[in-house]
Amino acid sequence: MNERPELEKRGIRLKLPATSANLGPGFDAAGLALSMHLTVEAWPAEEWSIEASGRDAKIVGKVDGNLIIETYKKVIEDVWVEAPEALRLRIDNDIPLGMGCGSSAAALCAGVALADHFGELGLGDVEIVEEASRREGHPDNVAACWYGGFTVSAEVGGRVEAATFAGNPGWQMMLAMQKAPLATTEARALLPGSYSRADVVFNVQRAALLTAAFAQGRLDLLRVAMEDRLHQPYRENACPLLKKLLPLMKEAEIAGVALSGAGPSVLVVLAEETTLLAAETRIAELVGEAVELVPVRIAEGASKVLL
Ligand code: HSE
Repeated sequence: MNERPELEKRGIRLKLPATSANLGPGFDAAGLALSMHLTVEAWPAEEWSIEASGRDAKIVGKVDGNLIIETYKKVIEDVWVEAPEALRLRIDNDIPLGMGCGSSAAALCAGVALADHFGELGLGDVEIVEEASRREGHPDNVAACWYGGFTVSAEVGGRVEAATFAGNPGWQMMLAMQKAPLATTEARALLPGSYSRADVVFNVQRAALLTAAFAQGRLDLLRVAMEDRLHQPYRENACPLLKKLLPLMKEAEIAGVALSGAGPSVLVVLAEETTLLAAETRIAELVGEAVELVPVRIAEGASKVLL
């Protein structure tokens, strides 16, 4: 008889999208799943190991301090269940780290989902999102990562209320990424403690329009609907690409521009007739050739396959 039945458990493959939170005015509330993914395959093992490929593979492949592993361990510890003490992980990562593209949200969701699978916790989508959001500190990226599409969420005393819809997968977007990452804690520390009524009203109006624009496929609304006064003005100096790219909001070829999450990356939404090549050329004129430009579309949420 096998004395370690947990080592017999089936493996799992998780595929989780990158996310762009805020989208201008939806600070800590709106998020969009993007077509860059973190794929994690896991099997029970005697000791922790990671075989990593893709972006930032050296960092992603480190067992020590790995956010997926830390999250798995903490969730299992918190619920006191029998689960494999270690996993063999194969990670293929497409999500840039520290760039405001939801890499930590994807890692947290992966860690919680692995604990759910191997600990047989029976968590539903809502509980997975709540568990990962609690660890992230705000729900916008986590909810968008798990549910996909355009997702709005609110934290309500430890619970997360979220609503999601697919959005138009035909919309073309471009992520502009500088080399140096920016920690979210640092970017949050730049924000003021309070705002004027005028600024709050400005954002409430635009956040409402933003949701309508994505729900109704109204690219024409984004020029106004992606404006923000709650976080972007305060993060501009730490995110130099934003200052360079915001003027694109005035050009007909571009539908909207926003800081991606807490930055430093910038999400540019293309107008309907604009080709990726034309957008790339125009963006490169403003930011220089050294900046990485990645074309993205709206993506579906997380998926799981048993191995
Ligand atoms: N809403 C968060 C922020 C996103 O802007 O700080 C962090 O990824």
